[in-house]
Amino acid sequence: MADDITGAVRILHIVAGVTLAGGAFLWTTVIMPTSAKLLPPPVRGAMVAALFPRVSNYLAAASATAILSGAWLLGLIVGFDGVVPVVTSTLYGAVLAVSLVAMLAALAIAVFAIRPMGFRLIALGKAATPGAPPPPEVPALAKRVARLGLVNFAITISVVALMALAVNLRT
Ligand code: HEM
Repeated sequence: MADDITGAVRILHIVAGVTLAGGAFLWTTVIMPTSAKLLPPPVRGAMVAALFPRVSNYLAAASATAILSGAWLLGLIVGFDGVVPVVTSTLYGAVLAVSLVAMLAALAIAVFAIRPMGFRLIALGKAATPGAPPPPEVPALAKRVARLGLVNFAITISVVALMALAVNLRT
């Protein structure tokens, strides 16, 4: 029974992690750079206004699920009483603790920085007069959103590598 629960949580964790990493990869390295290169600003603005809220909800949900299921999985594997000793005295636990902190930081960046800036950009785009140049804050804001998106993507990929390490460190 305990093994069944651990197996189910492991599947939930892997599906959430793959969904997050795959979604972040496609958005930051394919969709955004390609649309910036190919689409005129009004079309790009309409596309981002339609996609950003959905993509941002989807990535935040996948990220929260990966974090919660990861913490749960650790408790199931080492025993909930064993989490603190394992984290403080083994490399396996330290790697997982670093992963947890890194993913919490990425989620905070997404929720408290990328999301509000993205919605501000969408509002500015909607308020702009058609044909007029964009308000002066738009290019700098767009650059900051793109940069923070890349930071979060880098954190996510690093955590994927840390997961592979953790699985091999478990004794
Ligand atoms: C980007 C986010 C993450 C991704 C993509 C991810 C992915 C994975 C993958 C693919 C595995 C291997 C499963 C297996 O072979 O059994 C794994 C294992 C695991 N992950 Fe994550 N993970 C992420 C975040 C986290 C976080 C934040 C924690 C929190 C502690 C965590 C805890 C664990 C644990 C405990 C295991 C099992 C290790 C073992 O078998 O001993 N993960 N993860």
